[in-house]
Formats: sequence, structure tokens, C-alpha cells
Amino acid sequence: MSDTIRPVVGKLTPPNADLPPTTDPQVRAIERRFPGKSTLEGAGVRLTRMFGGSEVPLLDPFLLLDNFGSTNPADYLAGFPWHPHRGIETVTYMLRGRTAHEDSLGNKGVIGTGDVQWMSAGSGILHQEMPQRTDGRLAGFQLWVNLPKRLKMETPAYRGLTAPAIPIVRGGDGREVRVIAGEYERVAGPVTGIPVDPTYLDVTLPAGAEFAMPVHRGHTVFTQPMDGAGTFAPGPASEGRPGETILYGDGDSVKVRAGDEGLRFLFVSGRPLHEPVAWYGPIVMNSREELLEARRDLDRGTFIRSSRVISEL
Ligand code: CO
Repeated sequence: MSDTIRPVVGKLTPPNADLPPTTDPQVRAIERRFPGKSTLEGAGVRLTRMFGGSEVPLLDPFLLLDNFGSTNPADYLAGFPWHPHRGIETVTYMLRGRTAHEDSLGNKGVIGTGDVQWMSAGSGILHQEMPQRTDGRLAGFQLWVNLPKRLKMETPAYRGLTAPAIPIVRGGDGREVRVIAGEYERVAGPVTGIPVDPTYLDVTLPAGAEFAMPVHRGHTVFTQPMDGAGTFAPGPASEGRPGETILYGDGDSVKVRAGDEGLRFLFVSGRPLHEPVAWYGPIVMNSREELLEARRDLDRGTFIRSSRVISEL
């Protein structure tokens, strides 16, 4: 076997060591697609899980993406009553409708259309998330972002962003890019100081428009088509539609082109942690011992370690 590999390895050696290394930026190709799975969560919310526990660690540092929403209130009104989180960040983005929330840190309010809640559970919070009856369609996403081992037991932090706080970059071609975290065309999103250096964009493109986004080599990048269709990478078989999450291989940029109906999608990137993942429901730590400790804390009522909260914005 090694004999057949050797010539290939030989080819990778530059013919002239004096030549500078290639600086051609590499456009990322689609590595994998995750079709959403219909799932019952919380007290009986029918949602679509785009990826979750069985995909770890493919999307490191991202753990889970749920797409919730329906025109039928019976699919969501049961909501997500009081439950704990530890060791992760939960990011709720309401596309349409309202979700009432309340937590052990004293935060209480409504996440409305276009609002984002970026909540770092750290050492532990208890909260509830209750979608409210909406005329027409209620829709949103919840993304779970892992915390590095060194920060899993840190003070919880809460960021509640209303839609006007999220900048929109508008292009001459009619494009609209909402910048929640990271940067697009030198416009920075309001969510900063997140350990995995995330970019979170909501991109709407008119028919035929191209979106070219530089990305850090080695960072995990996925897109989540929401409306319309388009091609999500150069080359054949790169079409994407709502109902699937698209994960990219490595490279320096991502190129997406809208089809004839236009296209709306989420663009998300982040630095992988490369740490062990121990997952028990809404608690994600690094070892089984830490999960057992969390379980003991819940049983004894000692789960909330910090009543202090860093409330940014
Ligand atoms: Co929750």
C-alpha cells in the first residue's frame, strides 16, 4: 500500500524550494449535509433538529441547531418550561413571533421578531423559554455553542439584543446582511467577547447575487438555507435548500450564489475547541465526573453557583 502512496506524496514537494508558498485563497467546498430531523423537545414542542449530539464533534464548537416554528400553535405552545443549562451558550434568534423567557439570573422578557438572546450558562442557570401564540407562522433558531473547558464554570452572562441593535449591511444589488456576531464588510455585530470567536450572519440575496465571505482557515463554517435556493460552493452538486445544514471543508473563503427565487440563509463560523465532550441533556461538560457533579448539584439544589450575572448591552 505504501508504494502506491509514495508518488503522490512526492508530487506535493515543491519543485523549487526558492519559490514562495502558494497564496491562492482556497474557496471552501461542501463537506457534508445534515438533513433536519423532526423532534419533540421541551414539554412537547415539535421542531426540526438540524444537528445535535450524534454529530459531535463534526461541527465543533457548535453542538446543536434547532429550527422551531409552525403555523399551528399546538406545535409550540407547550414551550420549554424551567430547565437547567451548564457549560454552554444558547443563542436564540427569532425570525418571526415572540418567545417569553425568564431565568434564575433575574432576566425576564420577550424575544420578539428579529431579536437575539445570547446566553452563556457558564456554571449554571435555570430558565424557561415559552413561545407565544402568533398569527401566521412562528419561526426561529436555537444554536448551542460550546464553552472551552477553562470557562465552563465561569459566571453566567446574558445578552438580550432587540432587532434594532443588530446592524444591517445593505448592498446596491438589494442584499441585506444582518450582523449578529463577527464582521461583514467591516461592520461588526453587537455580540463580542465570545470565546470561540463566532461569526453569525443572516444573509438575504436577490436572484443571482453572489456572497463571498473570507473565513479563518481551520475554523468550522456552516450555512443554513432558510428561504429560496442557491449554490453554496463552486462546482457541481452544490445546490442547497431549506431543510438541511451545509458544513464546509477547510479553506479561506465561502462563496454562495442565489438562485432565481433569491436566497436567505444563516452563515455561522467559529474556532473549534478540540476538547472532549460529555453531554447530558442541557448540560455539556468535558467528563462524565463533571456530569455526575451537575446531577448531584441539581438533586441537592446547589446547581446555581453564581447569582451574579454579567449583563452586557
Ligand atoms: Co434552554
